[in-house]
Amino acid sequence: MTELRYDAMDDASAAMLANRLKGRPIDVVVLNAGVGSGADVPAEELTAEHWEKVMLTNTFAPLHLAGLLEPNLRLAEKKVLVAISSLAASMSLYQVPRQYAYRASKAALNQMLRNLSVDWKDWGCICLPLRPGRVKTRMSEFEGDLSPEQSVTGMRQVIDSATSEMSGLHRGYDGQVVAW
Ligand SMILES: NC(=O)c1ccc[n+]([C@@H]2O[C@H](COP(=O)([O-])OP(=O)(O)OC[C@H]3O[C@@H](n4cnc5c(N)ncnc54)[C@H](OP(=O)(O)O)[C@@H]3O)[C@@H](O)[C@H]2O)c1
Repeated sequence: MTELRYDAMDDASAAMLANRLKGRPIDVVVLNAGVGSGADVPAEELTAEHWEKVMLTNTFAPLHLAGLLEPNLRLAEKKVLVAISSLAASMSLYQVPRQYAYRASKAALNQMLRNLSVDWKDWGCICLPLRPGRVKTRMSEFEGDLSPEQSVTGMRQVIDSATSEMSGLHRGYDGQVVAW
């Protein structure tokens, strides 16, 4: 199997990846790369550099890559675009302080997926912002309620049973809709 490299901070690598995948149907694209949830500084200590990195990685890069891989999804039978979102995106549910850039980036990511669900409806692409739960990974400093396997098993079930009615809605690994 050939390893395909991708750096969300490097547009050229996204273009190169899409070029390598040209002509291949892809049933499910999962946009997973993310950074920044640990940055817990108050507003006055935020830097433009941090804001830019988080927004580029978590919002711009997945949208751009989704656009580059649109032809692959169109060629496929299933046609599902998933972006790994977060409860941190929810304006009504999430009450944890700070994490300004991360929260803004995931809320914007959800908006982009909703946008794509409208733009790509006519050719049947299902666009799903998906919340993995609180998972024990490097990002959460290995604290959380779920192992990566539990989270992925739940998300796979949601993806497998995805229908067009679910497109553009934020759901959790447990299949529940997450309020905006
Ligand atoms: N863990 C949680 O509780 C939790 C909760 C809600 C949402 N999420 C979301 O779940 C997703 C996965 O995070 P995780 O928990 O697995 O954290 P993680 O262990 O820190 O993994 C982050 C992933 O993003 C990749 N990545 C970061 N910057 C990248 C870049 N510039 N180009 C390409 N890949 C890049 C990393 O690749 P490398 O390994 O090569 O660095 C790694 O695969 C993220 O979108 C995160 O926001 C996680």
